[in-house]
Amino acid sequence: MTTTILVTGGCGFIGSNFIHHLHAVRNSWKVVCVDALTYAGNLGNLDEIRSWENFTFERASIADRGAMDEVFSAHKIDYVVNFAAETHVDRSIEDATNFILTNVGGTQVLLDSERAHGVKRHLQVGTDEVYGSLGVAGFFVETMSLHPNSPYAASKASADLLCLAAHHTHAQDVVITRCSNNYGPYQFPEKMIPLMLRNALSDKQLPVYGDGMNVRDWLYVEDHLKAILLVLEKGRAGEVYNVGGHNEWHNIDLVKHILNELGKPESLIKFVEDRKGHDLRYAIDPEKIASELGWKPETMFPEGIKKTIKWYSDNQKWLDDVTSGDYLEYYNKMYKVDSDGTVTR
Ligand code: NAD
Ligand code: TYD
Repeated sequence: MTTTILVTGGCGFIGSNFIHHLHAVRNSWKVVCVDALTYAGNLGNLDEIRSWENFTFERASIADRGAMDEVFSAHKIDYVVNFAAETHVDRSIEDATNFILTNVGGTQVLLDSERAHGVKRHLQVGTDEVYGSLGVAGFFVETMSLHPNSPYAASKASADLLCLAAHHTHAQDVVITRCSNNYGPYQFPEKMIPLMLRNALSDKQLPVYGDGMNVRDWLYVEDHLKAILLVLEKGRAGEVYNVGGHNEWHNIDLVKHILNELGKPESLIKFVEDRKGHDLRYAIDPEKIASELGWKPETMFPEGIKKTIKWYSDNQKWLDDVTSGDYLEYYNKMYKVDSDGTVTR
């Protein structure tokens, strides 16, 4: 029997990489991609996939109950991997409305439709941001209580809790991954690494929030995809699995590293007003997924960042396409860019 998987948010950064990964390693599976094509969704991320005979695309919002019912009726779905979300912390600080509609409401619609249509398993792609902020020591473990600090993190925590509630109440088979910050090809340049890369490539200022001493734990996207597939196929129902590779960087050191790799001067760095409620440090303890499922990161940072830089340098047209239109308006407003291109935030 052929396995059919519904990938929501498959036109975004991680979702599109996941579909490329399925094409490579689960080529006999049928893949249905549902994406609302928001500003962050780009069908062009799947250009090489669209001729794959096992691939179907449906434009729809996961928060639209009727549309989701049609998708589940049209395809006999075995697995759902839910990537679809509003994902940018800064945007959630400006306006959280769509974060609640999609991340919270959309997740519940999916869970309900899955039960109605006999879906075997729901994998919720979660984030370590639900744990809140660490001090200088310690790591996030799955048993910690949740302390989300941004509207984005709070909406993702709500989604995780709805999944766990569906498991507890309806014995629905759900698994949750909580990954640290990802980097790699196809990441929308509102996020730190592609934003810094894009600006550096065109000799524009690199806006570093606050003093640049916040810490993030970076994982190459392919390692995340492998973890998701492993948890989908072998994880225990009702369980949460943290995903991360012990790769912590102060933002400022990472920005300097990127500049160095590109041979660009550190004078491009511009310290700007800090993000409101900016979490100090994220760091994952991946012991559970390592010992239970044998996952470990394979792409170390020096190699991963080189590949990422090369991808963005080679895909200038992709960058130009996704940053035309709405992005410019967002960037100029968020970073208070004046007429000569100076960031004044
Ligand atoms: P992204 O913003 O690049 O992509 C999100 C995708 O979801 C887009 O294609 C968008 O069009 C789609 N989408 C948004 N609202 C939708 C709706 N209502 N219905 C259908 N589709 C909708 O995000 P990403 O970075 O690829 O993140 C994917 C998932 O992984 C998210 O759930 C995010 O919380 C989680 N996550 C991301 C990271 C990271 O570092 N990027 C880390 C851990 C977890
Ligand atoms: P981001 O990529 O938005 O991920 P998240 O906030 O979800 O971890 O930001 C990563 C870090 O980089 C975070 O500490 C905020 C910081 N940052 C900047 O300093 N400047 C920027 O322009 C952006 C977008 C982020």
